Amino acid sequence: MANEEKFDSLDDLFIHQLEDLYDAEQRMTRALPKMRDAASHDELRDAFSYHLEETQSQIQRLETIFEALGKSPQRETCEAMKGLIREGEEMINAKGNDTVRDAALIAAAQRVEHYEIAAYGTAHTIALQLGNREAAQQLDDTLHEEKNVDAKLTEIAQSYVNPAT
Ligand SMILES: [Fe+2]
Repeated sequence: MANEEKFDSLDDLFIHQLEDLYDAEQRMTRALPKMRDAASHDELRDAFSYHLEETQSQIQRLETIFEALGKSPQRETCEAMKGLIREGEEMINAKGNDTVRDAALIAAAQRVEHYEIAAYGTAHTIALQLGNREAAQQLDDTLHEEKNVDAKLTEIAQSYVNPAT
């Protein structure tokens, strides 16, 4: 179970949100290569590979924010991401039609992206409220990447996955 939290200030909550994201992103760096290897179509494999690289730079952005706050980066177990990845494992291990299996991987990946979009949106808002413009910029950069990959996955799903498989 998660530790008991104590939030005396918005700064405390901000750190907590960053630690949660830091854990979530590390988990994704382990899940994405498996998703890439499980994908059948090149376009989807490439999208997962590209997002793995982005995820690595997203981790670096979080580290930059922690450093600027004078904190060493720490992970707070992200139970939601653990659960989403567990669901993703079902898709990774699924048997059947390759194209439908790709659609299943996209379904799992988009759940992750929407979770991250929510989390980065919140963290960005808190950074703005704290007047931390540099952190807000970094979080906004990542937010855009998450939105872009989500849109890309929709595009892939529409382009080959859905019709008459
Ligand atoms: Fe991410």
